[in-house]
Amino acid sequence: MVLRKIAHIGHPVLRTSAAKVEPDAVRDDATQALIDDLIDTMRDAQGAGLAAPQVYAPVQICVIEVTDNPRYPYKPNIPLTVLVNPEIEPLSEETFENYEGCLSVPNLRGVVTRHARVRLRALDREGRILDGDFSGFTAGTLQHEIDHLHGRIFVDRVTDPTTLTTWSEFDRHHRAAFLKRADEIKARFHPSPLGPLG
Ligand code: NI
Repeated sequence: MVLRKIAHIGHPVLRTSAAKVEPDAVRDDATQALIDDLIDTMRDAQGAGLAAPQVYAPVQICVIEVTDNPRYPYKPNIPLTVLVNPEIEPLSEETFENYEGCLSVPNLRGVVTRHARVRLRALDREGRILDGDFSGFTAGTLQHEIDHLHGRIFVDRVTDPTTLTTWSEFDRHHRAAFLKRADEIKARFHPSPLGPLG
């Protein structure tokens, strides 16, 4: 297992536009090793996802996995998913408000508005085409990770800075209200009939 160092907000690598991976290079040893390291590092840090620029590799790869995540107990589970050159587009005008956090922004959370329904197109780690529709928290997680591939961090999208909170103050002052909202979001969007990721 190889754990890579996670870049923190302020490091320029998080603000660069990541390069696309040549489809022929997806199965290369270096690409496969980076993917394995992203998975190990995400799991070790208990993230719901991790993008390659967050480990100082500015290429368009991210990994996502939610398995009863203690950082995000309200998030529906998502099986381990590797996305290479992902592209996302909203499927409707609908949005929802998500309380996000990020391994590259230690100890801060804030409310971000996300598209509620999206279409995702990407390659998987074998270079096969993925194409599916996703909704709710899963759609939000995808948008958060794909933002990292374009130099964007969730704090850029926090429109009301008064929602910013440390994790312990979130637990003390915001968690109960958000869990209630999260139940409403899950009732609206999960389980989703739209795709295999939920
Ligand atoms: Ni992040």
